Amino acid sequence: MKNILDQLEERRAAARLGGGKARIDTQHAKGKLTARERIDLLLDEDSFEEFDMFVAHRCTDFEMQEKGFPGDGVVTGWGTINGRKTFVFAQDFTVFGGSLSETNAKKICKIQEMAIKNRAPIIGLNDSGGARIQEGVVSLGGYADVFQNNVLASGVIPQISVIMGPCAGGAVYSPALTDFIFMVRNTSYMFVTGPDVVKTVTNEIVTAEELGGAKTHTTKSSVADGAFDNDMEALAEIRRLFDFLPLHNKGDVPTRKVFDDPERIDMSLDTLVPENPNLPYDMTELITKVADEGDFYELQKDYAKNILTGFIRLDGSTVGVVANQPLVLAGCLDSDASRKAGRFVRFCDAFSIPILTFVDVPGFLPGTAQEYGGIIKHGAKLLYAYGEATVPKVTVITRKAYGGAYDVMAPKHLRGDMNYAWPSAQIAVMGAKGAVEILYRKDLGDADKIAEHTAEYEKNFANPFKAAEKGYIDEVIMPHSTRKRICRSFSMLKDKDLKNPWKKHGNLPL
Ligand code: HXC
Repeated sequence: MKNILDQLEERRAAARLGGGKARIDTQHAKGKLTARERIDLLLDEDSFEEFDMFVAHRCTDFEMQEKGFPGDGVVTGWGTINGRKTFVFAQDFTVFGGSLSETNAKKICKIQEMAIKNRAPIIGLNDSGGARIQEGVVSLGGYADVFQNNVLASGVIPQISVIMGPCAGGAVYSPALTDFIFMVRNTSYMFVTGPDVVKTVTNEIVTAEELGGAKTHTTKSSVADGAFDNDMEALAEIRRLFDFLPLHNKGDVPTRKVFDDPERIDMSLDTLVPENPNLPYDMTELITKVADEGDFYELQKDYAKNILTGFIRLDGSTVGVVANQPLVLAGCLDSDASRKAGRFVRFCDAFSIPILTFVDVPGFLPGTAQEYGGIIKHGAKLLYAYGEATVPKVTVITRKAYGGAYDVMAPKHLRGDMNYAWPSAQIAVMGAKGAVEILYRKDLGDADKIAEHTAEYEKNFANPFKAAEKGYIDEVIMPHSTRKRICRSFSMLKDKDLKNPWKKHGNLPL
């Protein structure tokens, strides 16, 4: 008996060594942690239960029967983050470059299926040279099996991808099918075809970092939701994000004890909006001032900065926030902002996370670039997402709510539950200048008349009262009482029950 126990320990030790000490040293020299070190940092201490530690590949081509490492390049299992269950896989770059073999794919599929069945999120730590070249089409089939499971899991359990090394070829499509992608600066990249192929086909000369590094994907492509400086920071931030998320689509949003009075007022909000309606202000200030303990987990921070998206807690419970940002493009909606916010709204709705919307939007961004780029279809994505959402929706108009953008930003008419306006709100088809120029074209040469028309228009529309008279907003509220009002609203809406008509699925304007 002792022998067999020793043998188990020996086998475990061998498996834990992955591709061996030399390759681990190379991994460390690149500033990267190993798969197991990453899992240790991601999960609560001693909570990791590993599966398939001894699984071996079955390939006999290219003399592969001579080579093998227990576990075959991916570490899989489950554990907890602050006591809550999650499934995890971490590709082990020290074993055949973390490449995906038939058995390696089977291990990932196994925990995907367990995560769906047992209703807990799945976190994938990606660090891989892609399809295991020696296995050919078998490896490609393995990828497709993983993709299929990603699709089935979508909207059932949260799926999070962290890119911590190479991620190339079709391999990028598993992360792309998940809810969130995060990258590590300088050590990770994602692209469908690498720099060499790009050069051959298009004659462009580009580095891997330029083509698919963290900066590219957080600022240009919007593929990634965030980037971190190193593995440790990335894993700590994933733990922070995880704490905001429900475990599955039938679970409640997590709640935690907070030491922040839901009735807290903040007098500084009364002067947040400048007197001059053309001056910007920072909407992040409003979000952090209403959030529990000022904690805002922002997503896609460096992309489409004219809209803000992320999670906060109100009275201890998770709420998703969407807010126009007057500091950038005056808060206009464009194609990028619409796609960014639309996807976020759909995530919240899929997982029953209530949505808070702060509105200060002068309209959709005009111009050929936007029209040729399909603003009609992209704007419709956000409209669709809000119109489809059945979760509690609370909206606060802080200043401008003009034109089509008023209709898109969670108004009463898209089944907004509680719609508030600050006294500084202006709810109209357009701003005074544009309106007067259209309505009184004949008076354009007469400055006095134009001033008179403008004053009349502003009296009528540069306030929230016309909309309040019609019941399009439920109440005009004092800015300083915003946290109190929205906390009370979400508490009242806790048991909201609203269903859309049965359908196989809708046809989101993709
Ligand atoms: C088998 C691989 C491998 C792969 C790397 N290795 N990629 N083994 N299949 N795809 C092995 C190497 O042989 C080496 O083994 C070890 O991993 C580390 O690789 P290095 O090249 O030494 O590391 P580095 O210099 O850091 O370069 C990493 C790399 C490079 C950029 C990822 O290895 C690379 O270009 N690999 C091929 C990438 C690729 O073209 N994959 C296919 C993509 S297409 P030893 O024993 O020496 O340590 C694809 C299709 C998916 O994935 C389709 C899904 C639909």
